[in-house]
Amino acid sequence: MTDIHSHILPFVDDGSDSYEKSFEMLKRAAEYGITNVVLTPHFKRGVYGNNTEKVKQEFEKFQIAVKEQNIPVKVYLGQEILCDSKIYEDLKNGNLLTFNDSKYVFLDFDYFEYSDIADFAYNIKAMGYIPVIAHIERYKYLSANTLISLKNDGALIQVNAASVTGKYGRAFKKKVFAAIKSGLVDFVATDTHYGRQESLEQAYKIVAKRFGKETAEKLFLKNAEKFNII
Ligand SMILES: [Fe+2]
Repeated sequence: MTDIHSHILPFVDDGSDSYEKSFEMLKRAAEYGITNVVLTPHFKRGVYGNNTEKVKQEFEKFQIAVKEQNIPVKVYLGQEILCDSKIYEDLKNGNLLTFNDSKYVFLDFDYFEYSDIADFAYNIKAMGYIPVIAHIERYKYLSANTLISLKNDGALIQVNAASVTGKYGRAFKKKVFAAIKSGLVDFVATDTHYGRQESLEQAYKIVAKRFGKETAEKLFLKNAEKFNII
């Protein structure tokens, strides 16, 4: 499996704060059948903002360290970008990272306070990028209709593995199952800050059983090939 959403890169956000923890997370990922991990630290203006250069430097060091540890997981870099009005300029100026240097941009929004997700996605698409919306089940105000129109406008959709397994409760589980059933979901990922690696394997089994192996292969592995991750 490929995990496209993780906070494993140390020292850059609220995820791992040591190499030891990061190595442990990757080793556990490998035990649960994950072979590729995209490190997607938060870009959150005023909190973890303007840190893209540091993120790149930390990634280069970390990638070498992972190889030295002989951990059988390939790591790639991305960024989970909390959307605000300034992100367009940042994107234009190369201040933000895409998935593995592709044209796919990973977008995050406030969970409770309304953001016009469809409008952000539309504008980013117009700039020549493809928006990937992080954990859509978490946005309280995101309606089923908006989700469909997002998808029709060319956005890709990620949900969290622990929502599929039911760890976050019935409402999240219902939302992600309905979205998978309607063919709206492109990725299931851990969003690990520490732990949660086992959730991807559990979610894979659930999706394969309920929606078929072909769907599971796409959501947990194949669709990530779009980011040149094989
Ligand atoms: Fe995240």
